[in-house]
Amino acid sequence: MVLWGLVLGALLVAVLGFLSLPGLFRQHRPQEPPLDKGPVPWLGHAMAFRINMVEFLRRMQAKHGDVFTVLLGGQYFTFVMDPLSFGPILKDTQRRLDFIEYAKELVLKVFGYKPLAEDYHMIHSTSTKHLMGGGLEELNEVMLDTLSLVMLGPKGRRPSASGWREDGLFHFCYNTLFKAGYLSLFGRTPDAAQDLLEAEELFVEFRRFDVLFPRFVYSVLWPREWRHVGRLQRLFHKVLSVRHNLQKEGVSRWILDMLQQLQALEVAPAMQDKFNFMMLWASQGNTGPASFWALMFLLKHPDAMRAVKEEATKVLGKASLEATQSFCCDPGVLKHTPVLDSVMEESLRLGASPTLLRAVQVDFNLKMASGEEYLLRRGDKVAIFPYLSVQMDPEIHPEPTKFKYDRFLNPDGSRKVDFRKRGKKIPYYNMPWGAGVSMCPGRHFALSEMKLFILLMVTYFEVEMVDPDAPVPPVDPRRWGFGTTQPSHDVRFRYRLRSAE
Ligand code: HEM
Repeated sequence: MVLWGLVLGALLVAVLGFLSLPGLFRQHRPQEPPLDKGPVPWLGHAMAFRINMVEFLRRMQAKHGDVFTVLLGGQYFTFVMDPLSFGPILKDTQRRLDFIEYAKELVLKVFGYKPLAEDYHMIHSTSTKHLMGGGLEELNEVMLDTLSLVMLGPKGRRPSASGWREDGLFHFCYNTLFKAGYLSLFGRTPDAAQDLLEAEELFVEFRRFDVLFPRFVYSVLWPREWRHVGRLQRLFHKVLSVRHNLQKEGVSRWILDMLQQLQALEVAPAMQDKFNFMMLWASQGNTGPASFWALMFLLKHPDAMRAVKEEATKVLGKASLEATQSFCCDPGVLKHTPVLDSVMEESLRLGASPTLLRAVQVDFNLKMASGEEYLLRRGDKVAIFPYLSVQMDPEIHPEPTKFKYDRFLNPDGSRKVDFRKRGKKIPYYNMPWGAGVSMCPGRHFALSEMKLFILLMVTYFEVEMVDPDAPVPPVDPRRWGFGTTQPSHDVRFRYRLRSAE
């Protein structure tokens, strides 16, 4: 018994010693950014970072300036906070900074998918073909159709549907965008009512996964939650299995094209199921929350709502529905909505907070705009967090915490792209989609579907908050760094179809 105790004790010491190696022995070298190893060996600053990334980075920037290296759970991350210095990182043509290898580890853990070398090119070229340009026009028509199905039901407008309905605004937006996006991309069957039911059930499971997601990524789940995540992963692999999905009609060309390429590369069907899960996550995890922020800001800013409604009337005319009708809207109008474009850009500025990560492949000399140079060490990660460095910078966006619906409009009504810092025009003035090699390939489709949803909401529905004095809820701090943020609590609202005049 005593012997076993000693052996276990020695093992524990060895494991802890091994884990704390990076924290204990790393020394700051000349020309490297300031190094902050935090209070706990190996973990470093992981706890403070996980609890509130924004507060933590603000503290570090105040202490160290625009570049610093911090230890987070055994890995060193160099944060670059000056947006005028992003260029060398985002346009690294010599591939000394890698995005793909790093993303691979995460994708395997979260979706069970083992990426191939060909994936990056395949995803981006297929998205260019089907989620932009001509492919997007086709998909917009499908999206309008599924939004009609989700918002009006399988038989179009029911004569009894004109009463007020109440819901949580976040739940309503996420639920509607998820179901419409899922059915548009992953296909439907001839039984529309059953499709809606299945999509609703899938949304419930998706939200369970979504709620656990940040702590899952940080590997800080309780044992029961690990088992739950495992069950959810298996459920998504099953529901999205290629065998099940290929029986459906109207699976989008985007998904079909990518699956065909995986088949040609002889990827096993079970791995294709996992690929589908990854695409479901990428395509549905952000649009609902982003639409929530847009609609929330419109409800709290009557001048913005008025401007969006005026523009909607201009492009769609005064619309209302007769019994059994579906929405009537030419998605081509989405090209002529500068006010709504500015509203979306402003909502994403306030609501999107991705972290852009690159792995340093070889020692890298980073030249800052100030002229200073820093040596980034091979094996470390470089991180950019545009929410703080760009989107909340008062020099680039005066009064950055305020929603200003026309912030991205020039006085003549055209799109404003001229933003400055230290007198210089800044190329990265809003970065909800990331930038460089990892920029979101679904951004054009994402914008179209969110805009379509908002246009339909302000055109066909009366929408109001249950408590008009309820403030815009704060962001849930646990979600900083994970794409579009979510509110810390939901807000009740009501909506009803406008009656035909
Ligand atoms: C508001 C909506 C959305 C936002 C804010 C958003 C944002 C982002 C960001 C920041 C990334 C890069 C992540 C990184 O650097 O690791 C990304 C990646 C990606 N997004 Fe989006 N996205 C949205 C909607 C969509 C939609 C609707 C689709 C597809 C239909 C999509 C497909 C993808 C894919 C496939 C990737 C991974 C690309 C790769 O592996 O290189 N996204 N998105």
